[in-house]
Amino acid sequence: MHLIETTHLSYAYRDSVRALDDVNFVAPRNVRIAVIGPNGAGKSTLFRHLNGILLPQEGQVLVRGEPVTKKNLKEVRKFVGVVFQNPDDQIFAPTVEQDVAFGPTNLGLDESTVMHRVDEALGLLGIEYLRHRAPHHLSGGEKKRVAIAGVLAMEPDVLVMDEPTAGLDPRGRDDLVRFVNSLAEKYGMTVIFSTHELELVTAMADYIYVMDQGKILAQGSVQEIFEQEEMLRRIRLDVPVIPKLCRALRRRGAALPVAYTVEEAEEGLAAALALPRRS
Ligand SMILES: Nc1ncnc2c1ncn2[C@@H]1O[C@H](COP(=O)(O)OP(=O)(O)O)[C@@H](O)[C@H]1O
Ligand SMILES: [Mg+2]
Repeated sequence: MHLIETTHLSYAYRDSVRALDDVNFVAPRNVRIAVIGPNGAGKSTLFRHLNGILLPQEGQVLVRGEPVTKKNLKEVRKFVGVVFQNPDDQIFAPTVEQDVAFGPTNLGLDESTVMHRVDEALGLLGIEYLRHRAPHHLSGGEKKRVAIAGVLAMEPDVLVMDEPTAGLDPRGRDDLVRFVNSLAEKYGMTVIFSTHELELVTAMADYIYVMDQGKILAQGSVQEIFEQEEMLRRIRLDVPVIPKLCRALRRRGAALPVAYTVEEAEEGLAAALALPRRS
């Protein structure tokens, strides 16, 4: 049984083409999954189904093997936390503390447990100093962290993030990557995120689903997907620079492995160029 599974999931917004068309998606435990695709591919619509914001028109969404229905929404939301693309859709309390407390309070937890969870979530995100601030005066990166803290305070097993780096500067992006990877590593959390920024995928995913026009076009390991340069270009995505450069050099005869990170590329190139070991 998978943590989350969709079977033949289809969905059309009113007066619009199918935003999802026969989507079969699986999230096993402790895997970091990227859903990539151009704008309008259906990523956000898929994510709105994972915790019952939208209910299926056709097909099913199974969470721990159980179909998501109106009746079990509360259970499902305890298990699957979704961070929306725009923090303003998620943050509404007058202070950060109250905002992060909102979810756990709604779960019916007692006040001291709620406060404990708030402390923990603010600590994890490194935003204790924002506790008494008004969310709408915060920067984009700070708001994003408040939204994530609010979701983590529910202690979900699955963390879903829609375009998590949208609106973050490079430093904020690196912090997010490190933080999300540590959640996966330390707590065995299952992470599902969408992006059209493929550099993010090499840094934060084990497995990729490629979506276009409401359909799953391909799925596989990072390596398997990034090998399909033509397919990615066809849907207006571009392979990250590092594997692209490695492949171009290999085509010209360089004895290089295909690397995905700067560190891998550095090692591969250093070996190919017979550079001395770093002291
Ligand atoms: N609230 C909505 N009402 C009507 N159509 C929508 C709505 N949200 C998305 N769509 C349409 O559904 C399709 C998929 O959109 P979306 O799931 O937002 O894609 P992505 O997140 O990959 O950019 C697009 O054609 C989009 O215009
Ligand atoms: Mg979207």
